[in-house]
Amino acid sequence: MKEILRTPEQIDYQTIAAWVTDQKSCARWAGPLVPFPFAAEKLPKLLAVKGGSSYCLSDSSNSCIGFGQFWAGKEGAVHIGRIIIAPEARGKGVGRLLCEQLIAKARQSTGSSTVTLRVYRDNHAAHSLYSSLGFFAIESESTSDLLFMSTK
Ligand SMILES: CC(C)(COP(=O)(O)OP(=O)(O)OC[C@H]1O[C@@H](n2cnc3c(N)ncnc32)[C@H](O)[C@@H]1OP(=O)(O)O)[C@@H](O)C(=O)NCCC(=O)NCCS
Repeated sequence: MKEILRTPEQIDYQTIAAWVTDQKSCARWAGPLVPFPFAAEKLPKLLAVKGGSSYCLSDSSNSCIGFGQFWAGKEGAVHIGRIIIAPEARGKGVGRLLCEQLIAKARQSTGSSTVTLRVYRDNHAAHSLYSSLGFFAIESESTSDLLFMSTK
């Protein structure tokens, strides 16, 4: 299988919307600015971040199996977020692949070497993935719910 990052099309947002089935998973994925339920066609606007970029991870048949974004972070860092993998593709290394490719793209596009993110403290799968990719928690930038993580 050859997965690549590509720009999401409207049809991909329909696919992604079907992965988000309840308010809690919506908030864990997209944060408080995306309401649940939402209309799939409104997703590009709801997810828009000024100056940010959105990518799909596409499989060998051009189906979207993952999604993520990056935008300018604090102090010259690039911030990644809204990472999600199709439920049927989870636990097979696809999330790791998406993050590796998204981080490389984010660094290449912005020239930033430091990458940051936020993850809910109780999102063990995501936390474990980010730790294994070299992110570490910065408690001074975190809240009781959300952990701020950085590569440096
Ligand atoms: C978090 C998420 C992106 C991980 O994607 P994935 O494709 O399942 O992850 P992978 O199969 O690539 O696994 C990579 C690592 O993640 C961790 N991980 C994945 N699933 C896990 C689970 N159920 N429990 C604990 N750790 C898990 C492990 O560290 C794993 O490494 P290992 O295989 O060497 O043990 C996916 O579960 C998801 O889309 N969750 C819903 C949306 C979300 O919470 N996004 C994060 C927003 S911050």
